[in-house]
Amino acid sequence: SVSPPQLHGPEFESDPHPAYRWLREHSPVHRVDLPGGAWAWLVTRHADARRVLADPDMLKDPAAGDAAWRAAGLGLPYDHRPSLVRSMVNVDAPDHTRLRRVAGGAFTPRRVRALKESAERVTADLVDRIAASDRPDLVRDLAYPLPIAIICDILGVPGADRPEFHRRAAVIDSSSYEEMEAVAATTDWFDRYLGELMEARLAEPSDDLLGDLVEAHRSGELSRDEVTSTAFLLLVAGHETTVALIGNMLFTLLRRPERWEGLCADPALLGPAVEESLRLESPLQNATWRFPGKPTTVGGVALEAGEPVLVSLLSAGRDPGRYDDADGFRPGRGDAHLAFGHGAHFCVGAQLARMEARVAVGALLDRFPGLRLAVDESELRWWPSMIMHGLFALPVRTGR
Ligand code: HEM
Repeated sequence: SVSPPQLHGPEFESDPHPAYRWLREHSPVHRVDLPGGAWAWLVTRHADARRVLADPDMLKDPAAGDAAWRAAGLGLPYDHRPSLVRSMVNVDAPDHTRLRRVAGGAFTPRRVRALKESAERVTADLVDRIAASDRPDLVRDLAYPLPIAIICDILGVPGADRPEFHRRAAVIDSSSYEEMEAVAATTDWFDRYLGELMEARLAEPSDDLLGDLVEAHRSGELSRDEVTSTAFLLLVAGHETTVALIGNMLFTLLRRPERWEGLCADPALLGPAVEESLRLESPLQNATWRFPGKPTTVGGVALEAGEPVLVSLLSAGRDPGRYDDADGFRPGRGDAHLAFGHGAHFCVGAQLARMEARVAVGALLDRFPGLRLAVDESELRWWPSMIMHGLFALPVRTGR
């Protein structure tokens, strides 16, 4: 067609790929209207996406955004709260480097091994329940509960607090702009809760990430707000994304039963299949906001300082200018996708997310070689979001 596609509404939500294909071909750096009268540049080709993500002059600090973007209030309701927003994803060097170094401690080989054991335990229990269920839904029954359990391990959330922590996290997840009031109330709760958790660690040190952050506060490396903001970032960045990875990967495999059977026959393909799913159905549709610190060009288009830029990771993964058979599933083609970002803000949790996906999908392969979708794929509902890309539910038959 000749006119640009809609980037919202039922058609886009049930299958965004045709819209991104149109943009890559006709308007690869496209001006999109946003709620509240603002607009942004949407970058959809792989080469342009990579160049923007690698550019240190593309700033992440929301203060670098232009007046129209700031007036539209497009940040989340907690954006004005110093206790939740002073984290690595919202700052540039040198603060970025300092904040990222401290949080990196969560992901030492020893800690990741312990998290893997925990993921295996949690998964075994969830898979038992799936086996006993009449109408299993792999998002509700596995993709959702596993990552939240792991985040609670990372932060050291006590067992008794976990059910409420899970319930509250669900409100922040996949919320639309219409639900912002509920999100604001929940944010109050996290603000208070993380502050209390921090106080407890100040009184009694602990061998977990929050313990590390509190130590860094004691030694003067992090402010109080930076400790709670980092904990909150790990929750927000590490949960919903991983839910979407596991759900989207299972969707990618089960929509073609021969893919599931191929993986059952050759489990060595599991790791490569995680990468291929990340490329084909990137959990983050778009990377977080960026703002040019000075005038620049992207894909031949001139951008002024402060003009908001969105980089479509979902589109970049399907770019035929970068990948042969871009829509095809070819595990083993490598991990050169942008689903975890690129450059200074590359995902700190990438190894952890990969591990969780391998554990979850691997357990299902072992237990249910005859697993199938229980509904036609056209009936599946995707989160109505331009930021995230994930499924509400994935009903299956376990083939017992
Ligand atoms: C950053 C994706 C899981 C923590 C990012 C970025 C992407 C991403 C694309 C870069 C954002 C940008 O540059 O605008 C994903 C995906 C995941 C996942 C697809 C799951 C499949 C996790 C997990 C954690 C985590 C499990 C932690 C527990 C972070 C943090 C950042 C980040 C802290 C900010 C890094 C920085 O600003 O330097 N992630 N992520 N992510 N991710 Fe992940």
